[in-house]
Amino acid sequence: MVKVGVIGIGFMGHTHYQIYKQHKKAKVVAIADYRESRLRGEWGDIGGNVGDMKREREDLTGISTYKKPMDLINDPNVELVDICMPTDMHKELAIAALKAGKHVFLEKPMARDSKEAAEIARAASRAKGYFMVGHCIRFWPEYEVTYKLIKSGKYGKVREVLLRRVANPPTFADKNWFMKQRRSGGAILDLHIHDIDYALYLLGKPKRVWAWGSKGPSGGIDVVHAGYEYSGGAHVTIIGGWAYHAPFPFNMEFCIRCDKGTFLYDMATGKPLTIYTDKGKEVVPKLPDGTGWSRELDYFIKCIEKKTKPEVITAKSSLESVKFVELERKSIETGKAVPTK
Ligand SMILES: NC(=O)c1ccc[n+]([C@@H]2O[C@H](COP(=O)([O-])OP(=O)(O)OC[C@H]3O[C@@H](n4cnc5c(N)ncnc54)[C@H](O)[C@@H]3O)[C@@H](O)[C@H]2O)c1
Repeated sequence: MVKVGVIGIGFMGHTHYQIYKQHKKAKVVAIADYRESRLRGEWGDIGGNVGDMKREREDLTGISTYKKPMDLINDPNVELVDICMPTDMHKELAIAALKAGKHVFLEKPMARDSKEAAEIARAASRAKGYFMVGHCIRFWPEYEVTYKLIKSGKYGKVREVLLRRVANPPTFADKNWFMKQRRSGGAILDLHIHDIDYALYLLGKPKRVWAWGSKGPSGGIDVVHAGYEYSGGAHVTIIGGWAYHAPFPFNMEFCIRCDKGTFLYDMATGKPLTIYTDKGKEVVPKLPDGTGWSRELDYFIKCIEKKTKPEVITAKSSLESVKFVELERKSIETGKAVPTK
């Protein structure tokens, strides 16, 4: 049994807590949040924009509750610290938990900027415990299956990629922190990074990056259209933003054309991931159970149990994704394509 402490019982902390509750090899032994109501299990008002929104009062009998995150980090009973806090607090907490010898699961984005993310990566490289960032799209069934099928070579080379993720402004969070770009980094860092991370996972580093973007309700870049140029390879377009009018629903979609088939997934249609093959067939691949959130946590718990370092998401890959947000920002600011070196 891996003994878990969850810091921040908001949208993500609640989601993770419910996943651990059903997991056979993990147990939440502590939670931390500065809101007393959250420590009393009054969770009915927790907001969110994706997934199961059923919130109930939680019985926290037997679970240690802390107002101060550092008290949870210093609790000797906690083996895995799961940080579900606003992004501007990631660096301080992740480094403290790694220094305390804990395994650390840190929500994405890794940090507010690449300097902070690099500091976390350095601490992770010296730490006794394992470290993983919640880039859940690498584990999201439709995306994971597409990745594996493409990497198997069955469908030939990737020629064209569209990744799109859009929402209305997330105003459900504590102190409306997503809408303060100083804290969240705007949609380009908070939301769009999911697809940046997936593009890098699938195709590696592009030659050049270009992007157009505009400011939105957070005061930062909340709408972004980016293009990644690969040598002799795929045309890649990544679109993201949270400037759509409420109650426009959160949506994620992709369309990936390879030599021998086109992969299409659009959550809003309710249709399953479908591959349109070069033989004129429609193939609906079988998907694994769960969500990207449950599957990433399950993977991390298995790594801890088997004492094998996580490889699907590393500190290096998560830092790289933050760096690509900054390359896109640079392209938006200069109006020019930016080489990735
Ligand atoms: N992987 C995903 O799909 C996904 C989705 C949404 C959010 N996120 C990420 O998860 C993280 C948390 O986002 P969220 O939506 O859960 O935010 P949230 O505001 O809903 O939750 C944050 C929680 O932290 C608590 N908190 C804030 N400051 C505190 C402090 N100083 N001390 C103690 N507690 C404090 C708040 O009371 C709140 O309960 C962010 O990094 C965000 O980018 C990831």
